[in-house]
Amino acid sequence: MRKGNKESIETWNSVMQSNYGTPSISLSRGKGIEVWDLDGVKYLDFLGGIATNILGHNHPSVVAAVSKQIRRLSHVSNFYAHPVALELAEKLQTMTLNKSARVFFCNSGAEANEAAIKIARLHRGRRIVSAIGSFHGRTMGALSLTGQSAKRDAFKPLLPGVKHVKYGDIKALRRAVNGRTAMVILEPIMGEAGVITPPSGYLKAARQICDAKGALLAIDAVQTGMGRCGHWFGYEDEKIEPDVITIAKGLGGGLPLAAMITLREASELFKAGSHGSTFGGNPVATAAAMAVVDEIEKRKYLALNLVKGALIRNLISPIIGVNQVRGKGLLIGICMKEDKAKQIAATMQSRGFLINAANDEVIRIAPAFVVNEKQIMAFASAFNSSCEEIYRG
Ligand SMILES: Cc1ncc(COP(=O)(O)O)c(C=O)c1O
Repeated sequence: MRKGNKESIETWNSVMQSNYGTPSISLSRGKGIEVWDLDGVKYLDFLGGIATNILGHNHPSVVAAVSKQIRRLSHVSNFYAHPVALELAEKLQTMTLNKSARVFFCNSGAEANEAAIKIARLHRGRRIVSAIGSFHGRTMGALSLTGQSAKRDAFKPLLPGVKHVKYGDIKALRRAVNGRTAMVILEPIMGEAGVITPPSGYLKAARQICDAKGALLAIDAVQTGMGRCGHWFGYEDEKIEPDVITIAKGLGGGLPLAAMITLREASELFKAGSHGSTFGGNPVATAAAMAVVDEIEKRKYLALNLVKGALIRNLISPIIGVNQVRGKGLLIGICMKEDKAKQIAATMQSRGFLINAANDEVIRIAPAFVVNEKQIMAFASAFNSSCEEIYRG
């Protein structure tokens, strides 16, 4: 029997852990930002696998790169180099504008942050300052950095030495960092917390505070990175250089790939045997990433994402029920009145648009960079109709 959504979700309930909650539909194929569920219903995917499918689904360049690579060489252990991972590492080094940059490849954002924790330990020990509300992943180390008690509490004790301070508050950061602090880790925009943007100058101040106390500054660009917010990593507007950068999500264009990049002295801390990952830097995943990077450069997406983001903001801001539209480029948080974000997300899905309620108040969208004006107009129109229905009754 061919399975539809209903049967697929029944299977989900009988075989999957319940950590994600039960999904309402099962997606089977996609093209660009269009996806189809098992009942054949089409949606415009404005969430992009949560900021991950940055070229959309089934992108010809990614398909060609992955197909070519898997025919040629599918995996090598870390005993050997391979040219595609090196080409990507060179690209990432160029993006940092610093020849001292060194790359460690892994498979997820949490793993990249685990590697960053090891860098902090080697630099100066266990004391790390992170932000309240931040999200850095769910493995035990990354979870220790994550500043959300709902996600942490059941798993205590976590790593000792991590202090959480109010995000965007320079004074709080200054008070928390001292001569024993090994690392400060910050997201340029807090994505999971509901797309919270810090005041301008925050990252610059964080850099100065870290410099004054000899602490490393790590930027978690897992969600903001790969050009989504108009720059490669999301901190560049502040004209700072971090010591550690973590990226994942969009890097592999839908394939699992992440990286921890160090700069300057932080690049000298790992020695042979310090860390490792079997799949990190896999040829197929890095081939996909090279296709992603080439396409971003060829189509000038860094600049275009800002233009598309501004268009979305302008169309959404005047809609009834919208309190504020925040974020940058194609990472957008829409703050809704009366905690109706979940209801709006459900209504939008019934109208054929996939979006996410980051919490009761905030809708998060992070569409693929290939999203076009017509699709943005259709999204805004459906958002308007959904809000009219919900707020005017
Ligand atoms: C800023 C940030 N860091 C880390 C992570 C964890 O990434 P992963 O789910 O790939 O482990 C996420 C995931 O949403 C994230 O948004």
